Amino acid sequence: MNKMEMTLARTLLATAAVITLNGVAQAGEVEVLHYWTSGGEAKSAAALKAQLEKQGHSWKDFAVAGGGGESAMTVLKSRVVSGNAPAAAQIKGPSIQEWAREGVLTNLDETAKTEKWDTLLPPVVADVMKYKGKYVAVPVNVHRVNWLWANPEALKKAGAKLPTNWDEFFVAADKLKAAGIIPVAHGGQSWQDFTTFESVALGVGGADFYKKALVQLDQASLTSATMEKVMTTFKKVKTYTDKNAPGRDWNLATAMVIKGEAGMQLMGDWAKGEFVAAGKVPGKDFLCAAAPGTAKSFTFNVDSFAMFQVKGDDKVKAQKDLAAAILSPEFQEVFNLNKGSIPVRLNMPMTKFDDCAKLSSNDFVATNKGGSLVPSIAHGMAVSSAAQGAIQDVVSQFWNDDKMSAKDAVTKIATAAKTK
Ligand code: GAL
Repeated sequence: MNKMEMTLARTLLATAAVITLNGVAQAGEVEVLHYWTSGGEAKSAAALKAQLEKQGHSWKDFAVAGGGGESAMTVLKSRVVSGNAPAAAQIKGPSIQEWAREGVLTNLDETAKTEKWDTLLPPVVADVMKYKGKYVAVPVNVHRVNWLWANPEALKKAGAKLPTNWDEFFVAADKLKAAGIIPVAHGGQSWQDFTTFESVALGVGGADFYKKALVQLDQASLTSATMEKVMTTFKKVKTYTDKNAPGRDWNLATAMVIKGEAGMQLMGDWAKGEFVAAGKVPGKDFLCAAAPGTAKSFTFNVDSFAMFQVKGDDKVKAQKDLAAAILSPEFQEVFNLNKGSIPVRLNMPMTKFDDCAKLSSNDFVATNKGGSLVPSIAHGMAVSSAAQGAIQDVVSQFWNDDKMSAKDAVTKIATAAKTK
């Protein structure tokens, strides 16, 4: 090698070293399946994409529209069956175990150990992310489902106050109706009916009832008089929705509250992402409160990414880097500010978060201590996907069929709960 060649070789080596240090030499692609397509959700997905690109990797978007993710799960199944799984997919709760049992998820323990996930996560969340003691998924946030959103102007116009229990809810709804405002913004899609149902069940029956009936699927609780009261109250909510509700997307229902066309919406705090994306300020332009009768309870819904086995060092590296970055304090902050949820990482400063998020954060800790932190059945956290789907079908049938009695619905739900 002559002198010039030596210099050239040295330069090349040095460049290679720099590239490797930056991780660029192993830049890989992560295909991410998600269903975050509304205004607030898209901003959150963009934050995740930016995070990955900052690490030198590339993002392949696999977005399947449809709130609650039912369509996304159907598409995911067909992709996995045909041997073409995405690297990461937004999967939650017991479904993570269902996928892990199929042997298609990857073991994230190495990353989890380096990043100390066991100390960063509440045990109630970490357990859900593990299969046979090994991490196969990484959580991004904690959503609270039992929220009520309201337009303060609309309430004022109607002379109504923000309700704290179901009796007050119907009083407020009557006043809104009398003032010519749609009392409840609802999207008649099965998962939204189920979301409303679960908040009614928690408010009417309390956390212990909720746990027995909708987590343990205890037959006696499912067929109890309390359950019948839940169904009657749930059906009464429908009478305050508008005739265009069937089929409406949840974010369009939120938009009705934003515009003051409707007074209230029962929805998880991804709705806050919509208010915020529309430039609205909590406490001023919109109000958040626990769903009626549920101030001392918390239905949690943890969004998480299960990682599928991928081939190629570059892809594996990119996948691991994404998993590690998801729990970094920087990402937890920016993502959750947009998503409407709170960080899943423990001991995060909440200074940049609004009062709704602060309330959620305090209540998450308090209800965890007090035993009233319960998994959301409507959002895939409480029971197997088979039982969830079967119960959800009956709940929606009852919502839509004005001839079905509450008693019949209760019997059908109890039978649906046995679905394996
Ligand atoms: C939930 C999901 C949230 C939110 C919502 C509407 O199930 O956990 O992240 O996006 O559906 O799609």
